[in-house]
Amino acid sequence: MQAPIAANPALLAIAHTLATTGWCQVTNLVPADQLAALIVESTAAWQQGDLTEARVGRGAHLQRRPEIRGDFVQWLDPHSPSPAQAPYLALLDELRVTLNQALYLGLWEFEGHLAVYPPNTRYQRHNDRHHGSEARTVTAVLYLNEGWEAADGGELRLFLPSGETVEITPQAGTLACFVTADYDHEVLPARRSRMAITGWFRLRE
Ligand code: OGA
Ligand code: MN
Repeated sequence: MQAPIAANPALLAIAHTLATTGWCQVTNLVPADQLAALIVESTAAWQQGDLTEARVGRGAHLQRRPEIRGDFVQWLDPHSPSPAQAPYLALLDELRVTLNQALYLGLWEFEGHLAVYPPNTRYQRHNDRHHGSEARTVTAVLYLNEGWEAADGGELRLFLPSGETVEITPQAGTLACFVTADYDHEVLPARRSRMAITGWFRLRE
């Protein structure tokens, strides 16, 4: 028999909240030194021009539409993560296993990207599931913006099934999680550039 893994209580709490409420935001999950390293490394990647313009649509219809989606992205390579990404991807894998053990979700892998929104850019209301695929099951966004103030804008707005909305501030160290299929959302324009590692726990296709 496989020995049960002693799950991190903070990860179990995320599983519980996703099952009951469908979305959550947590702080202090990523240790301060790891968060600081992610911020330094991600800022350098952006400044070196390693990110590319995100596009909307699929296949032959991919196009740059900054009025819909104005961010720049760099996909993570889970098989050879950068030094700062490695511990965060390890934590996400622990979260994946915890979600599977607690909720039987059958999450198979994580795909994610670093995303930077330059000032005054946005991502209009959308859902993260691709048409024709139900693989993306849980969305997880870790923010990398130190000293974010309310006046900076840039909130993640979730459209709740009840018709209400909730806004999450993209403050460094905040992790937002939600059940992908159930939450349309948008990124509001910010007056500063806004950085996050965004990704999805996926079912096997
Ligand atoms: C996305 C997205 C949310 C955020 O990349 O699909 O909606 O808060 N990101 O950055
Ligand atoms: Mn999204």
